[in-house]
Amino acid sequence: MKTKFALISDVHGNLPALKAVLEDIKNEEDVSSILCAGDIVGYNPFPNEVAEIIRREKIDSVLGNHDKAFITGDTSWFNQSASRAVHWSRNNASRDTIDLILDLPKEISKGLDEKNEDLETSITITHGSPSSINEYVFPRTISLKLRGMLEEVGSDMLVLGHTHIPMVKNFENGVIINPGSVGQPRDGDERSSYCILYVEKTEKLEENISERWEVINQEKKDENTQTKISLQKLAKNPKYKISMQIKIKRIEYNIKEVISKISSVDLPQNLGERLKYGK
Ligand SMILES: [Fe+2]
Repeated sequence: MKTKFALISDVHGNLPALKAVLEDIKNEEDVSSILCAGDIVGYNPFPNEVAEIIRREKIDSVLGNHDKAFITGDTSWFNQSASRAVHWSRNNASRDTIDLILDLPKEISKGLDEKNEDLETSITITHGSPSSINEYVFPRTISLKLRGMLEEVGSDMLVLGHTHIPMVKNFENGVIINPGSVGQPRDGDERSSYCILYVEKTEKLEENISERWEVINQEKKDENTQTKISLQKLAKNPKYKISMQIKIKRIEYNIKEVISKISSVDLPQNLGERLKYGK
């Protein structure tokens, strides 16, 4: 009883970045599905191509704040570059792209099971925080608040986007994961960021496994792996234990291709420049 999936977020119309990440996901074995924490469009010049891939690859996504602005045209929360990019995306969007974005839910919440065998874990995905699409949940956000968010959604895993900064925060009652941004990383590393999540339920052999999630290993495996954390807890049926492995990966992509496209259309040039610095 196991499942492995990929978490992505904040693609923001960056086609070369999305392609590179999907290529890497294909090289990971047995990834059953890809989930996205929102912001498919905005900032970068390939909204239709990215939306087409999201549809074709059956990537389940929630609505991001840029996706919402793309639908409504309301960019009052945005700085000038972000606002111009949203309006450029609206003016250049295909009917298919608009339909895809219109269909995005605010939240995805589900239990994890493989071949109808209950893995006794659940996942909730939302863009900003469980209560607001615009709220930033940073690594520095106080633990009490983060733990409260997990309690509020009642899932073992809460996946967020919006900050463009990868984050894994573990608590007794679960884990909050931000896979970072595929299309516009902002933590000073210009490579795309995404997450591989692996959950497995196995016969319990060792004693002393807690009923709460506990970290059993934390390491960095290779130069593409930014973080790798393994956790485990006792299943409801104490014969079993549930293991979870979270891996944040960083993937190089062709930034020059995006910059060159930005300079050939009516988008602010600084949107290309910032990609080179991961800002
Ligand atoms: Fe975003």
